[in-house]
Amino acid sequence: MTLEASVVGGSGFTGGELLRLLSGHPEFAVTQATSRSYDGKTVGSVHPNLRGLDLRFSDPTDLDSVDVLFAATPHGVSMEQIDEFEDAADTVVDLSADFRLSQESQYDEWYDGHVCPEYLEKSEYALPEINRENLPGADLIAAGGCNATATILGLKPLFDADILSGDEQVVVDVKVGSSEGGAGGGEASSHPERSGIVRPYAPTGHRHEAEIEEFLGLSVSFTVHAVDMTRGAAATCHVFPDGPVSKGDLWGAYRESYEDEPFMRMVAGGSGVYRYPEPKAVAGSNFGEVGFEVDPGNKRLVVFSAIDNMMKGSAGQAVHAANVALGFEETAGLDFAGLHPVGAP
Ligand SMILES: NC(=O)c1ccc[n+]([C@@H]2O[C@H](COP(=O)([O-])OP(=O)(O)OC[C@H]3O[C@@H](n4cnc5c(N)ncnc54)[C@H](OP(=O)(O)O)[C@@H]3O)[C@@H](O)[C@H]2O)c1
Repeated sequence: MTLEASVVGGSGFTGGELLRLLSGHPEFAVTQATSRSYDGKTVGSVHPNLRGLDLRFSDPTDLDSVDVLFAATPHGVSMEQIDEFEDAADTVVDLSADFRLSQESQYDEWYDGHVCPEYLEKSEYALPEINRENLPGADLIAAGGCNATATILGLKPLFDADILSGDEQVVVDVKVGSSEGGAGGGEASSHPERSGIVRPYAPTGHRHEAEIEEFLGLSVSFTVHAVDMTRGAAATCHVFPDGPVSKGDLWGAYRESYEDEPFMRMVAGGSGVYRYPEPKAVAGSNFGEVGFEVDPGNKRLVVFSAIDNMMKGSAGQAVHAANVALGFEETAGLDFAGLHPVGAP
């Protein structure tokens, strides 16, 4: 028996990606997608890749009862409406930052405070690679930020293998595509302004630092660049461990963490053009790629991590977590590769 699912914020970029995934998912039937701006219009009129899908947008003030509600709304909306969401569905999966962090004080420090901090304790972080054991049966799930997800996936094996303890210096530089800014965009996202750029948009103080610190237990020096691609987040992590680490040690660490993970691939200096992780190699898919090199002269490790921000970095991660929470096959609805060759993703 399929479960009914709805997408609040279905006209946005991640909402469209959720609709793409859920409409092909063997365990879900999408029964509602909301949009205030496109109320009454077909989903395909906003998301051309979904032309033919028999579904029209409806207003979010009139939510159907469903089994699972996915919220793909801007920061602040879900925390204001969580009671309505929970009345409408047994399981709520939120893609915003509203329920990612566990402490109200973190929202005071990094965001504009929180209106229902009592929910923070019960929400579960969606990323199965770090929180799989707590997802089964969860009724409020918070998908991670895309830049944080790329960084956490890149660095986690170093903690699992005790190569990092949390005291070392780590510098992370993330390059991210324009879809991260959402469908609304703005001057910075308009084509003439965005085209061709490598723009440091968050040199310091990016909010995703809070998530990385919470889930890795490490304070990272974190900078994000907006670059000229549509999809993708690529994290380059410069790590300065206390003792010597060989490439064999790194292969051991990353294999230990990821060889059984259905969506993680290790790419570390083979041959050919794609020798290290690149967003282009995972575009449109839920795969994450990690790779690494050793720089003994500088006592440095360099770790690369690439995801599609709209898949592993949001909608794909949300569906993966829902699969785990509801006891479905983990890869259900997500078991496909990206495209190759393809233009700038
Ligand atoms: N884009 C990414 O790569 C990415 C990655 C990770 C996480 N996220 C997070 O995912 C969420 C959605 O991001 P997005 O990029 O998909 O944004 P988006 O393209 O701007 O879409 C936002 C959606 O929310 C709806 N909406 C806005 N205000 C609303 C309200 N008050 N009540 C109900 N619906 C409302 C919008 O439709 P109407 O205004 O027509 O109702 C639209 O459908 C954000 O919290 C974002 O931080 C995004």
